[in-house]
This record gives sequence, C-alpha cells and structure tokens, in this order.
Amino acid sequence: MAKYYKQMVTSVKRWTESLFSFTTTRDQGFRFDSGMFTMLGLEVDGRPLLRAYSIASPAYGEELEFLSIVVPDGPLTSRLQHVQPGDEVLIGAKPTGTLLLDNLEPGRTLYLLATGTGLAAFMGLVREPDAYERFERVVLVHGVRHIGELAYRDFLTSGIVEDEYIGELAKAQLTYCPTVTREAFERQGRITDILVSDAFFEELGLPRLNAMHDRVMICGSTAMLRDLSAMLDDLGFEEGSNAKAGQYVVEKAFADQHVPARSVAAE
Ligand code: FAD
Ligand code: A2P
Repeated sequence: MAKYYKQMVTSVKRWTESLFSFTTTRDQGFRFDSGMFTMLGLEVDGRPLLRAYSIASPAYGEELEFLSIVVPDGPLTSRLQHVQPGDEVLIGAKPTGTLLLDNLEPGRTLYLLATGTGLAAFMGLVREPDAYERFERVVLVHGVRHIGELAYRDFLTSGIVEDEYIGELAKAQLTYCPTVTREAFERQGRITDILVSDAFFEELGLPRLNAMHDRVMICGSTAMLRDLSAMLDDLGFEEGSNAKAGQYVVEKAFADQHVPARSVAAE
C-alpha cells in the first residue's frame, strides 16, 4: 500500500494570520476513526515533507478536513499556509491515535478538552453519531489566548445544530464552551481553572468531575496535558490507551521538539 495518498485541496478558510483550515478530496481507500491523526504534507524539492495532523472531519465525511497553525519559518506550515483549492497535498495512509471512543469505558458525560489546534481532533468527534450513542452529554471546552483563535466558533455555536446528519443529536446533547485567557470574553480562564469552578458545572447543570460517570479526552500542549492529567489522576481517573480502555485519554496537539522530517516521512 502507498505510504501516502496525493489528494486535492477543495477549500481553504483563514481564521487568523496564523491559523487556517482546509478540506481535501478523500481517497476511497483512506479509512479512519473519528478523532485520529495522520501524516499530512507537501512534496518539497521532489521529497515528501510530512507532519502529524488531527483529522478534523468525521469518519463518514466525503472530504477530509484539517486545522493548521502557521509556524513562522516552520518547514511545513510556512509552505502549507499558501495552499489554494486545486493544489495537491500528501496524506499519510496510516491514520492512528488515542483519542478514540473505544479507548474510553462507558460513561454518562464525555468531556472534550482542547487548547489551540487541539480542537481539530474533536471536530471529528462532535460530528460522530457514536459519541452521542455512547454518552448522554458531550461537553466541548476550547481554550485559546485570543477570541480570533476560536476556530469553528460559529459552526459549533449554531451551524452544527442545523447539520442534516448530526444536527438533532448535537442540539440535544452537545454543549460548546469556548474560553479565552488574554482578552475580555464571555468565559475567561484556563481550562484547568474552569474545571475547578462551581459556576462552570452549575452552568452545565452537571455535577463536578467524577471518575464514576465522566469520561475525558484531552488534546493540547505538553504543559496543558501534564496539568490536566495530574488533575484527573488526583480525582482518581485512570488513563486509557489503545491497549486498555480507561476513564480519560490524551494526545499532544503538537510536539515541543520537532522530529526530523525524514524520519517521520519514512515511517
Ligand atoms: P515544526 O518544526 O513541526 O514545529 C516548530 C515548532 O512550532 C514546534 O516545536 C512547536 O513548538 C510549534 N508548533 C508546532 N505545531 C504547533 C501547533 N499546532 N500549535 C502551537 N505550536 C505549534 N498541528 C496543527 O496545526 N494541526 C493539527 O491538527 C496538528 N495535529 C498534530 C497531532 C499530533 C499527534 C502531533 C504530534 C502534532 C500535531 N500538529 C498539528 C503539529 C504538526 O505536526 C506540526 O508541528 C505543525 O504543522 C508545524 O509544522 P512545521 O514543519 O511548520 O514546524
Ligand atoms: P494562557 O494564555 O494563560 O497561557 P498556547 O497557545 O500557549 O498553547 O495556549 C493556548 C491556551 O492554553 C491559552 O488559553 C493558554 O492560557 C492555555 N494554557 C497554556 N498552558 C496551559 C496549561 N498548562 N493548562 C491549561 N491551559 C493552558
């Protein structure tokens, strides 16, 4: 099997100067579960330049969708930021990841906690009917520094409930909670602070986090994963993996130290 598929960009949306999303065609042979990531990139000087990317579209989507940061001087994103409809991108043929519904034990409420581009992993899951089958409520918390970085805010606030396929389920069961740390906004503070606030759970009409009935997925920076994992560990939550389902699962939204492109591309 090919290591990657050549696919065509079909649309591009720019959220801020350093954040954009785009859709691509999907090869019929490309299968994945909502919440997975895959390698994505461009051919540069005749060689593939690939990085890990969460798939922001659900498993049943006809197209694929990705949300991307622009790292100034970043080998891939300094180029990828210029993609236009009609351009070719490379999509790794082996999607994987831990943010999978199967990696969680059954529960009542599913909390999806993301900072920055970590949201991408959950854009597939909030459109996944199975998430609403398995959980009574789905609570998506997205933390960013500035309001402009709340990608998909309109869709998550109103568009999703109009969605032909998932709208009814999302309307009844999904709560979207954006939070901003460096600008005045309707909800302010880091996710770690929000999760210890009574006001937040009162607003949701839900009890405070409890390993008995809550399940959590986390995607963000290393610091955020470390702090949230420690908080959940203290509350008695057990981490799940592809080997054994648990009460929470985590995935890095990006690696702090970059793995050389060749070793990634060669995998
Ligand atoms: P790199 O050399 O790869 O990165 C340079 C530095 O930029 C990094 O060391 C880091 O400090 C910073 N950085 C990289 N990515 C981010 C980011 N997303 N947010 C904040 N700072 C960052 N990136 C996305 O934009 N969208 C995704 O959905 C996504 N999913 C990922 C999933 C996994 C499992 C992992 C490990 C990484 C993911 N990344 C994602 C990061 C991505 O792989 C690249 O690092 C990113 O596209 C930048 O590539 P680059 O070659 O331009 O710079
Ligand atoms: P803050 O503005 O207080 O640093 P970043 O762009 O650095 O990844 O941050 C995205 C969001 O995540 C910001 O709102 C940031 O808050 C928040 N954040 C950064 N570190 C942590 C952490 N350790 N725990 C929870 N949230 C964090």
